[in-house]
Amino acid sequence: MAVNDLSSWRAEFPIVDTCTYLVSHSLGAMPRRTATYLQEFAATWSSRGVRAWHEGWWEIGRDTGNLLAPVLGVAPNSISMHQNVTVAQAIVASCFSFDGPRRRIVMSDLEFPSNHYLFEGFRRYGAEIVYVPAPDAMRLDLQQFLDAIDERTALVPLSLVLFKSAAITDARAVIEKAHRVGAHVILDVYQAAGTVPMALAEWKTDFAVGGSVKWLCGGPGAGYLYVRPDLAGRLQPSLVGWAAHASPFDFATGPIRYAASPERFQSGTPNVPSLYSARAGYEIVAEIGVPAIRERSLALTRRIIDRAASAGYRLNTPLDDRERGGSVILDVPDASTVADGLIQRGVIVDYRPGAGIRMAPHFYNTEAEIDHAMDILSELVSGR
Ligand SMILES: Cc1ncc(COP(=O)(O)O)c(C=O)c1O
Repeated sequence: MAVNDLSSWRAEFPIVDTCTYLVSHSLGAMPRRTATYLQEFAATWSSRGVRAWHEGWWEIGRDTGNLLAPVLGVAPNSISMHQNVTVAQAIVASCFSFDGPRRRIVMSDLEFPSNHYLFEGFRRYGAEIVYVPAPDAMRLDLQQFLDAIDERTALVPLSLVLFKSAAITDARAVIEKAHRVGAHVILDVYQAAGTVPMALAEWKTDFAVGGSVKWLCGGPGAGYLYVRPDLAGRLQPSLVGWAAHASPFDFATGPIRYAASPERFQSGTPNVPSLYSARAGYEIVAEIGVPAIRERSLALTRRIIDRAASAGYRLNTPLDDRERGGSVILDVPDASTVADGLIQRGVIVDYRPGAGIRMAPHFYNTEAEIDHAMDILSELVSGR
């Protein structure tokens, strides 16, 4: 078996026997083990009832975050779990005020739309939103982006991998610049976690947010928030609930007395079934190791790129391996219809306006599947 042959993992992902599953940037395949864990949730609820809260459910956010810590390259007990990225970002934003001279939120126009929608809403609290226009739909102009961050900047939300092009951004350079002028970076690692190695603690990342639906194969409802440990104790989120209280079962009213991190960033009751659902994917990604997944991913994305280039398709993804995440975005005439045709023929991909067809192989895909997908694509493009 080749060093990076991870095909034995295919048996753990039932969907790969039914179609050519190339959409892990959107919804990663469900591990077989997830059904066992969800059964365990149901059995616990059914047999233990309310006692389950004190037999693991109350701490499930911290425990689940700890499973994820090695994947993100952060210390244990620094991740809290939330419903999704939007909620996690809102909790971060609620730690800051925007009515003084440092009121700017600087971001690229290539960010995922939720980031725009959420931070736009903070204008009512005094925030000034600065969009840094990208030169094209592929990547940021790094220098222009760095120049936009100054002493007036409070927050810099930035995706580590851009959702439309899969370009990897230079997060370290942005964090360094932000720190030089006293700003904080919220790194959205959703399109990277589980396929691109990262060392968030080493990079001195202030905040990181993401979800589990994509490369982590963890299903919906398991968003996460990492907060730099030396920063966490100083922050006081206003978007909090009783699970963030130091003694939640005192049911004290009035102002909150914050728990230590990561619980101080919690809102209310943990999203227990989603956290059972997320566990299997985290375990598998951590067991294989992101560097091995990355090596495999690059071999497969390169294969797509070579086939696409020789067919003359337009590639809206960086061609240099060092700049590309786990997906390839390619454009062909009438791409939306072609994407539908691929799906009808069992090649599961997606289409994004202004980008094209997104193909995302993961560790459970094979070269033969890439060749099959590209053969069908070529038939559809040539009208056969
Ligand atoms: C980079 C990125 N950020 C955020 C989101 C949305 O996250 P959520 O639905 O968890 O708020 C997505 C979803 O595709 C994404 O790709």
